[in-house]
Amino acid sequence: MRFLMLAILALAPCARAADNTEKKISELIGKMTLEEKLGQLQQLDGSAEGDVPQDYYALAEKGLLGSTLNVRGVKRVNELQRAAMRSRLHIPLIFGFDVIHGYRTIFPVPLGEAASFDTDNAREAASIAADEAYAAGVRWTFAPMVDIARDPRWGRIVEGSGEDTYLGSQMARARVLGFQGTDYSAPGKIAACAKHWAGYGAAEGGRDYNTTNISERNLDEYYFPPFKAAVDAGVATFMSAFNDLNGIPCTGNEWLIRGVLKSSWSFEGFVVSDYNAVKELVNHGLAADEADAARLGITAGVDMEMVSRLYNNHAPELLKKGLITEAQIDEAVRRILRVKFRAGLFENPYAEQKLEDSEILTSEHTMAAKFAAEKSFVLLKNDGGTLPVRDGVKHILLAGALADDQEAVTGSWNGDVRTRDSITIRKGLGEAAKDAGAELTYVRGAGPAASDTDNITEAVEAARNSDMVIAVVGEQQTMSGEASSRADISLPGRQLELVKALVSTGKPVAVLLMTGRPVIINWLAEHAPAVMEIWYPGTMAGRAVADVVFGKVSPGGKLPVTWPLSEGQIPLYYNHKNTGRPFEADNKYTSKYLDITNAPQYPFGYGLSYSTFTISDMKLSADRISKKGNLTVTVNVRNTGDVKADEVAQLYIHKHSGSVTRPVRELKGFKRVTLDPGEMQTVQFTLGPNELGFYGKDLKFAVEPGDFDVWVGTSSEGGNESSFTVLP
Ligand code: NOJ
Repeated sequence: MRFLMLAILALAPCARAADNTEKKISELIGKMTLEEKLGQLQQLDGSAEGDVPQDYYALAEKGLLGSTLNVRGVKRVNELQRAAMRSRLHIPLIFGFDVIHGYRTIFPVPLGEAASFDTDNAREAASIAADEAYAAGVRWTFAPMVDIARDPRWGRIVEGSGEDTYLGSQMARARVLGFQGTDYSAPGKIAACAKHWAGYGAAEGGRDYNTTNISERNLDEYYFPPFKAAVDAGVATFMSAFNDLNGIPCTGNEWLIRGVLKSSWSFEGFVVSDYNAVKELVNHGLAADEADAARLGITAGVDMEMVSRLYNNHAPELLKKGLITEAQIDEAVRRILRVKFRAGLFENPYAEQKLEDSEILTSEHTMAAKFAAEKSFVLLKNDGGTLPVRDGVKHILLAGALADDQEAVTGSWNGDVRTRDSITIRKGLGEAAKDAGAELTYVRGAGPAASDTDNITEAVEAARNSDMVIAVVGEQQTMSGEASSRADISLPGRQLELVKALVSTGKPVAVLLMTGRPVIINWLAEHAPAVMEIWYPGTMAGRAVADVVFGKVSPGGKLPVTWPLSEGQIPLYYNHKNTGRPFEADNKYTSKYLDITNAPQYPFGYGLSYSTFTISDMKLSADRISKKGNLTVTVNVRNTGDVKADEVAQLYIHKHSGSVTRPVRELKGFKRVTLDPGEMQTVQFTLGPNELGFYGKDLKFAVEPGDFDVWVGTSSEGGNESSFTVLP
């Protein structure tokens, strides 16, 4: 009781501050004209370079603009903000920008960061991105993207955490806390935005913007939890998605926005539409015309309209006709002002030049970006210890256009990048080779876009005169990201031809894959001695690659997404259901293809290391627990190799039966550890109602009694196995 009283007393000042803010908001709303209210609901776009279109100054000065996107840089932001602060009610603008994996210091793409299986790493990256964005006057990022993606054809798989709900939720939380901290009015913190609400990653056929059909059960179980994790971490805003969800496009979906998000989850922030998404309700065929689209957006609970101007153009007439209410408009304004207050914009509307001059691309930030990149690499194959480069290697051939591409390394959504700041793989490896007393020759060979500068024969000649070959192949950065879905996800251009020719020389060839998604690499997986996925590593690409390739650091990342053998297997994900006829090799009437196997190229959670590890001595604290009970699972992780390296212990469960069928495995815990040779660490996981519960027959989240298998291992296949029972 005493503790409860103390807790209530400690919370009291917060509650008072919140009451005060709500009072101030009410006062402001009381003074606002309808025009001014609609102004707050409008977000307009600056230029890609960050400039402000001339007419925005007048709009801001009249209080007819709530926010911009893309406008950045202290001078530009302050000038426009000054116009807003001259408006009748002095309501500041909030400047938004896609700060996805860095502002100027670019970190690995989010899918790569997810591959680190390290939430501290993701939080730190988001925190640095926020710091730089804040310094440039940006106070709101359209990140994190927390869409679950089970289809690597979908180009935006690169922007999220991959296919798994548990990993995705952990990463969502880490990123929100990184951007916002616990108080996003603090210097260096910015408001975050969970997007795209909801189901956008399930686009049919992997084609961007396409329709989605997801059962309510699958929404609850797989697609919603990362968003809920973002809400629980205090995310300031949400973005409504482009897609049609079960017949009702998200941006006009009242059940989704007012129902699930605002009502069931008690979300207090505001919802911004995606770019022009309100207007696109007409294309979807949900809205009869633009006025109807405004009505649908407002009714659904989309508070701020990005780019299209339908609320401003049509709300007065809709109000007159009684098709929307002033209370709905007021609620949207309230939510937007609440975030502006919480962001501290009323007290602190301007950006500081001295921060912009000192806080961007600092050596501390670039070092953090390098570590993050190293952590993201996933070693897929390494026959005979091809990597790292051995002592005594004197001549190395580096091939592949991507090895010498300063732009590609930063991937899609690369913030306010300056291409000249990034370190290419050619540069990084060249310097490292020199330090190691070796010589690095670079021959382009081939690139993602076949061109007349392809010179495979020259690369082969050079390979013959080398001790080893490193080939960097993959996708141009524009081949993944928004509007970058691919039906054929093999290596584009003549890159495979290049690698085949290099391997045919008999020299050891290490292939570095620079991609934003799993790509089809059957031949490489079989014939190339070493393959490592490096995603798009960011500003410090060359340095991170050099330290891993030369063995200063061992790769330890794991796949956050199942790697298919063929496009025909998609969607392919580890946490599938068993079916009534699970795969049996010699039984035709089981769930399989006639022409290819069900097995992936590499499973979810997979990744090798320069060292070796054992996981052993698995112990459960109990083999029977109650529905409300917890149990702990411990294992010993030991580095049995010769080098310091990281391993990710992963815990999976499977419930034998339930009121609804359960996946064959579900990730419910992971821990990345760094161990010296011979070192052992005990890793502990806790399983309780959050991990063991699921949405049952009645769509309510609950723990059901029954038998569970549990594994702890180094990927979603195999591992130490045990079992326990949840008692009725
Ligand atoms: C469209 C994208 O879908 C969204 O993710 C992004 O934040 C907005 N454009 C703004 O750039």
